Amino acid sequence: MSFSRIRGTGGYLPERIITNHDLERMVDTSDQWIRERTGISERHIAAEGELCSDLAAAAARRALTAAAFTGRDIDLVVLATSTPDQIFPSTACLLQERLDIPRNVIAFDIAAACCGFIYALDVADRFIRTGGARRALVIGAETFSRILNWQDRATCVLFGDGAGAVVLEAAEEPGVLATRLHADGRQAALLNVPWGVSQGYDRLTDNSGKITMRGNEVFKVAVRTMGRLVNETLQANNLSREEVDWLVPHQANIRIMTALARKIGFPMERVIVTADRHANTSAASVPLALDVAVRDGRIQRGQLLLLEAFGAGFTWGSALVRY
Ligand code: ACO
Repeated sequence: MSFSRIRGTGGYLPERIITNHDLERMVDTSDQWIRERTGISERHIAAEGELCSDLAAAAARRALTAAAFTGRDIDLVVLATSTPDQIFPSTACLLQERLDIPRNVIAFDIAAACCGFIYALDVADRFIRTGGARRALVIGAETFSRILNWQDRATCVLFGDGAGAVVLEAAEEPGVLATRLHADGRQAALLNVPWGVSQGYDRLTDNSGKITMRGNEVFKVAVRTMGRLVNETLQANNLSREEVDWLVPHQANIRIMTALARKIGFPMERVIVTADRHANTSAASVPLALDVAVRDGRIQRGQLLLLEAFGAGFTWGSALVRY
């Protein structure tokens, strides 16, 4: 058995920015309402024809460069998304040729909505620890702008597009110290895209392929569940809050992060926040936030990170990482 370590991180945000003021011209909303209720000021939106794999490839290239690897060094690709380019092949497979990743590797997608990256990290870590892979690309990439109802002010102001990636490598010391994954499908109705291919294209109407959410109820479940998750992760690993250098949470809403920090007694100064500029990029949000804080020098080698996310399903999970 070995462990996995993060060798490099990368992120990519599409060029086009939509500000809250832009949204004021599209739906009955205001910059003030959006900032007060969510902390979000702007979000990046993929260009016409720019797909999930384009965002993922750009983030992955940056992570490979940061790790001083090329695609040829990779033997596992795990990509989390709810907005793939195609039904199949998986977006992970679509990246292989573009990134010069060898033909005989393992590559697949994971769907766990906003918790997808934590699921992907857990799976890649298990491959590496059991000798099934040595160098993995773990990616979260989303084009949520394509599943937003741009007439629904309750949801269209909350999300953005982007991708984040990490390169994991087998190592003698962890790295990824522990991961926890959970799911409970009983409240699927609170947050979903109600259409899927198995229902048939004849049932796809204008808005059936778009996000619906009972935001108020999701908010309460998210804070309660993530609070429990952080405490359970720390207890299971005999750690105190003080030993964690950085909390890197899913970037759904700054109010959710503030409420969570208050609930678990964690100072906001040690919480990485990117939702103000990225909005909620679903499976991309945690690796993007991680990459931002690595590149701006806040996250340093040797520090202890607690990554956590909550998403549709519901799915939720955490990863304790010695960076
Ligand atoms: N602009 C102006 N008014 C709005 C907007 C908007 N964009 N959206 C809703 N409103 C109105 C509502 O219609 C409502 O009006 P009413 O009182 O006349 O009926 C009023 O604002 C209050 O609406 P609430 O939904 O109660 O507002 P709340 O304070 O709960 O904030 C929000 C809404 C921001 C969506 C919040 O509930 C939230 O963040 N929930 C969690 C959502 C989330 O993050 N989901 C994703 C997490 S999981 C994942 O990432 C997949």
